[in-house]
Amino acid sequence: MTSSALTAKTLTPNVEGLIDIILEENPMHKSFMVGALEHVTIEELQTLDKYLDFCGSKGLDLAYMADSYLTIVGDTFREQLYFMKHKEYRYKSYEEVGGHVYHNEDYMNQYMYGLAITSFLWPNHLDMGRFFVETMPRDVGGKYLDIGPGHGYYLMKAMELGKFDEFLGIDISESSIKQTDAILKHFKPDFADRFELRLMDFLDAKELEAGSFNAIVMGEVLEHVEQPDVFLKRIAELAADDAYIYVTTCINAPAIDHIFLWRSTDALEKMIEGTGLKIKAPLRLPYEGKTLEESEAQELSINVAYVLEKA
Ligand SMILES: C[S@@+](CC[C@H](N)C(=O)[O-])C[C@H]1O[C@@H](n2cnc3c(N)ncnc32)[C@H](O)[C@@H]1O
Repeated sequence: MTSSALTAKTLTPNVEGLIDIILEENPMHKSFMVGALEHVTIEELQTLDKYLDFCGSKGLDLAYMADSYLTIVGDTFREQLYFMKHKEYRYKSYEEVGGHVYHNEDYMNQYMYGLAITSFLWPNHLDMGRFFVETMPRDVGGKYLDIGPGHGYYLMKAMELGKFDEFLGIDISESSIKQTDAILKHFKPDFADRFELRLMDFLDAKELEAGSFNAIVMGEVLEHVEQPDVFLKRIAELAADDAYIYVTTCINAPAIDHIFLWRSTDALEKMIEGTGLKIKAPLRLPYEGKTLEESEAQELSINVAYVLEKA
């Protein structure tokens, strides 16, 4: 059976080919994929198709992309088993994960390509992306900062949707910087002289001027750092008074490089509110089929996205 039999939607050849390979390699993923295909719109699948085209133009075939996606699925499953047994994430420091994740070129490349695919196929990731698209201001200029752009998809989306004049991406991984550079040059060639990418730890970017950014976006980074509160304080410092601030993270969500664990949205939100930021609009996404309360009580993954403002 091919993936087109899993949905009434018409799949584009790239997406159909990708899903066929994923299910051939991991047939157990089929029921998850049926749900994923129900959630995603045809327009979003067309966007995924264009992303796969872009990857194809870099010599990355569908088998590589499927393998990248399955790397995340497999790693997450292993870390979930560890978390259920030990009630803790496996690693707690940057030192333990930096070498084999952020600075391991082959692994990091697959991780980021796979993560980009989850933005379309994992319902919670898709909902966070939709929340970004809905809330990002369309009429604000000035400076836009993306902390940890990774695959670069959201930075590219911001160029497409907004009116910002200058874009800065800061990432600790050279693989992420290269992927972001490639996706921006491919999809947004007109922006070539309006963006800059810096390979560094965000907390080391002391040269950035307080109050100078009109938008600060940090997707899926907070759970990767030892001191998320210091990251949030620095964001509050760098943001202009009326800046758009968008942050996503997760609760009870083990992954190979998640080192900071929140066990409830309350604990996370108290931390946010203690850093000079205020929650303007929250998006709290429980584990599939559970309420937020059940997810917390049963220690199941919750995804969260927030539009924040300066307190
Ligand atoms: C999970 S990816 C998120 C990618 C993308 N923002 C998203 O939402 O899908 C995390 C990214 O943050 C980067 N990162 C982790 N710690 C960082 C730090 N201290 N400073 C800058 N970037 C960091 C990683 O290299 C990676 O590219």
